[in-house]
Amino acid sequence: MQNLVEKYREMKKRGEKITALTAYDYPTARLLDESGIDIILVGDSLGMVVLGYEDTTPVTLAEMLHHTRAASRGVKNALLVGDMPIHTFDTPEQAVGTARKFIEAGAQAVKLEGGVSHAAHIEAITRAGIPFMAHIGMLPQQVREQGGYKVKGKTQSEAEALIADARAVETAGAFSVVLEIVVPEIARQITNAITIPTIGIGSGEQCDGQILVTHDLIGLFPWFTPKFVSPEARVADEIRRAARAFIEQTRATGLSKRPLV
Ligand code: KIV
Repeated sequence: MQNLVEKYREMKKRGEKITALTAYDYPTARLLDESGIDIILVGDSLGMVVLGYEDTTPVTLAEMLHHTRAASRGVKNALLVGDMPIHTFDTPEQAVGTARKFIEAGAQAVKLEGGVSHAAHIEAITRAGIPFMAHIGMLPQQVREQGGYKVKGKTQSEAEALIADARAVETAGAFSVVLEIVVPEIARQITNAITIPTIGIGSGEQCDGQILVTHDLIGLFPWFTPKFVSPEARVADEIRRAARAFIEQTRATGLSKRPLV
């Protein structure tokens, strides 16, 4: 595989926007891949949108690896990134061990949440030859300590800390950095301050690319949609409609609409 740091730096230089979406299973990964997406993330958002947990903190490594294996079977062209769950990268050594497990499961790169605080962990991963995507800004794995999903970069000190985080992950060898719900003006400043691409989620249009949780984009998790998402489809409504049609037909006729014989 081409050196990803170089590849993504070049895309940024050319002003080519990078597209990324999440997938946790074979059909979704295959559909996204066939649609021409650049990056597929097996995100630990899995915990909420697939496993029904309150937040991402209960997600285990076994769960992530199971879904990474499934998604990897559907991907031919996109870059598949595995998201390292909380407490699987508490030390640089543990971070490398976990990253290797994702690669064995079919991921081509890994991501973890953290900036300056995790520079040594990121450096250990990239030194081991494993491509790495960083994630700074709002860190969902810390949602309980933070008391909610709050916009980052509102104060001068938060903005400075974010720019320091971005520089630290770039120096540690990341090929890109996710900026989660960062004030758009600060996201723009970070984008201009580093040479690797910023991939925004709820951080405005000045980033080098965008990532979304696919369930939010396609309306497959209708009980909660983040404010910054405008769903492109209403898949949950279609599932309900199809299920109701099946139920009605079966109750009325004993068969669903089109019998095979
Ligand atoms: O877990 C996830 O899906 C993520 C994205 C929202 C960036 O980390």
